[in-house]
Amino acid sequence: MIDMNAVALLLIGLGGSVMAVNIWKYKTLINPAEEFFSLEKQKIGMLYKIHSLLMWFFLIGYFVVFLGIALKLHFLGNISVGVIFFFGAFFVSLGILLQSSMLLSIRRSHDDLVKKNQQLLQTENVTILALAYLAEMRDHETGAHLERTSCYVRLLGNELRKSGQYADYVSPEYIDDIVKAAPLHDIGKVGIPDAILRKPGKLTREEFEIIKNHCDYGANILEMAEAKLEFQSFLRVAVKIVRSHHEKWDGSGYPDGLRNDEIPLSARIMALADVYDALRSERCYKKAFSHEEACTVIAEGKGTHFSPDIVEAFMRSERQFRLVSTTLAD
Ligand SMILES: [Fe+2]
Repeated sequence: MIDMNAVALLLIGLGGSVMAVNIWKYKTLINPAEEFFSLEKQKIGMLYKIHSLLMWFFLIGYFVVFLGIALKLHFLGNISVGVIFFFGAFFVSLGILLQSSMLLSIRRSHDDLVKKNQQLLQTENVTILALAYLAEMRDHETGAHLERTSCYVRLLGNELRKSGQYADYVSPEYIDDIVKAAPLHDIGKVGIPDAILRKPGKLTREEFEIIKNHCDYGANILEMAEAKLEFQSFLRVAVKIVRSHHEKWDGSGYPDGLRNDEIPLSARIMALADVYDALRSERCYKKAFSHEEACTVIAEGKGTHFSPDIVEAFMRSERQFRLVSTTLAD
């Protein structure tokens, strides 16, 4: 026959042990999350203290009931059960209140952090644009050129991703990075003398050699900036774009004479976006090409100036290129 007293003692003993462990662990649960409770610190602190006291009360209660049963003090057992049931309801309510207050506080802190992160990203984007405008304004370029080329880069990135080409490389994050980096492609122009940069006529061979330096100048500036970061940022891809956006598929470009896949994908995308925009824009030495004329020039450059994959992506999205060029015209 089962000894019910022994079973009760075993259950109460186990319950009391678990409660003792809970009290010991409780502090380690609250402490790490405390920094999120800044807004409701007082309320949560008070709830936590009362809840902790009730846990101690229960631990003592287990001990008293255990003794009551062991020493056969029946009247004590009845009172203890009544008191435990009475306070049990408050204990559970208080636990729920404490948890909901903690979750609400964490939620508020999280929302605050998300908002600050968004503001930081916006500030980063505006700072990049301001830097890029600085270089472009010296060259009589407008902000619209930067906006359009960023749009073209996104169109090409999306098209490559859709087609499954470079699937393990062209991720949404990669596309965001090249779009963010695109406005900086000519930032190295800040190092080119005005007399050459703003010369209305054709450049001499020597002057063109000086212009070519803008790729190195820009890449060096961004490399120095990137070296100060302790994490990988969009600047990694920006350096590649800035350095290699004048390379050509057949190796006849500058500054390094890279060919084919030696040219970073980001720079191959930028090259086409930049040339399409230059073709569609009026310059002191040429009129603006029509969209169809620009398409012909780009198609002719497939495999010589431009990467064949990028030209194909362009052809698949040329209508959207036309739309951007007309809606964001100078
Ligand atoms: Fe350039």
